[in-house]
Amino acid sequence: MIIAPSILNADNLNLGRDIKKATQAGITRFHIDIMDGHFVPNLSYGPQLVQDFKREFPLVEAEIHLMSDNLETMIPAFTQAGADLLEFHFEASKKVEYWLDYLASNGVKTGLVLNPETDVNVLKPYLKELKQVLLMSVHPGFGGQKYIPETADKIAQLKQLMKDANVNIPIEVDGGINDKTAPLAEKAGANVLVCGSYIFKNGDIAGQIRKLEGILNE
Ligand code: DX5
Ligand code: ZN
Repeated sequence: MIIAPSILNADNLNLGRDIKKATQAGITRFHIDIMDGHFVPNLSYGPQLVQDFKREFPLVEAEIHLMSDNLETMIPAFTQAGADLLEFHFEASKKVEYWLDYLASNGVKTGLVLNPETDVNVLKPYLKELKQVLLMSVHPGFGGQKYIPETADKIAQLKQLMKDANVNIPIEVDGGINDKTAPLAEKAGANVLVCGSYIFKNGDIAGQIRKLEGILNE
């Protein structure tokens, strides 16, 4: 199981410090939430943040969760900024194939994201080109929301879909992950867990990561 901390709820005035604490606790990938104030009702970071992240932490993976429907501007900008993996929303794109090709030919790992209400079957035509699928376990836009328990059914459906298509790519779950919900997602078959407030909000970043890992290893 990979834990990918979402920096959205870290201390933004001490972001480098918080990221460093997490890497010292063994984290090798961060989930960076990009919100455009249009596809979702909130704003977060721009490409400069990703560029700075890669300058300071060149060996740590930057996973970009793009919550925008302006892919023409955003995908090239975040590709150039140094994204290692970029996940965009199926709901936000009319040219899924085009953007998957664009990312792959620029050496960026590709991911597609589905909102809670989107059927996993929409992924069928793209499964062979994806390096990861992200299932939202909250409605995108804000950290600190409650995990939607029906996510387990979607993970199971996606697993079946992948089995039928003879592909095996990591399933990531994002939103409301804590010591109670992480085991639910794990049991359902998730391979990567995004975790924001649980890790960054109580003041003991390394302790929270250890706690989560401990629960997942039980
Ligand atoms: C929600 C974001 C999530 C969020 C996770 O729109 O995509 O990545 O920041 O934060 P928590 O773990 O607090 O739900
Ligand atoms: Zn996210």
